[in-house]
Amino acid sequence: MKKKIFLALLVVLLVIQFFPIKHENPDSPAEKDFIVSLGSEYPEAQKMIKDACYDCHSNNTVYPSYTRVQPLGWFIRSHIRGGRMKVNFSNWSDYSPKEKIHHLQECKEVLEENRMPMKSYTWMHPPSKLSKEQKQQLISFFEAAGSK
Ligand code: HEC
Repeated sequence: MKKKIFLALLVVLLVIQFFPIKHENPDSPAEKDFIVSLGSEYPEAQKMIKDACYDCHSNNTVYPSYTRVQPLGWFIRSHIRGGRMKVNFSNWSDYSPKEKIHHLQECKEVLEENRMPMKSYTWMHPPSKLSKEQKQQLISFFEAAGSK
């Protein structure tokens, strides 16, 4: 009985490998991008946002090779789709001034509440792990940007 369950699981795992995820990165011009729009004024905050947020909140996702392994790829794709749906920094100029303020304030909140970057992500991407000081710096950046 146990052997049958194990074999069935193995077959399922093998079959799902035939349904890989597409490495989607919709085209978006640089002039629409949030980080680009900041120019060279906030190099540290810009780097942190790029390292810690852009894989899920932009159209410039770097897909590691393990995203080809299922069900891991589906799990990661759901985070990318969910993240882009909430805030997409690649389409920043499409947001209205009111939406921009709202997103910037939310960015501050998710950092304060330690909800972002997602734990499952920082675990696999050490450069996205922010120190206490970096997190504070980024919170201050979003706070200032969101109250302009
Ligand atoms: C591994 C993917 C991933 C990374 C990295 C990531 N996010 Fe997210 N983010 C998501 C997903 C998925 C959601 C939607 C589900 C949720 O709110 O938990 C989300 C939601 C959000 C929201 C909306 C919150 C709300 O209450 O609706 C904000 C704002 C946000 N992220 C900001 C950030 C910032 C800022 C960073 C970088 C410091 C970041 N995220 C890093 C995946 C990610």
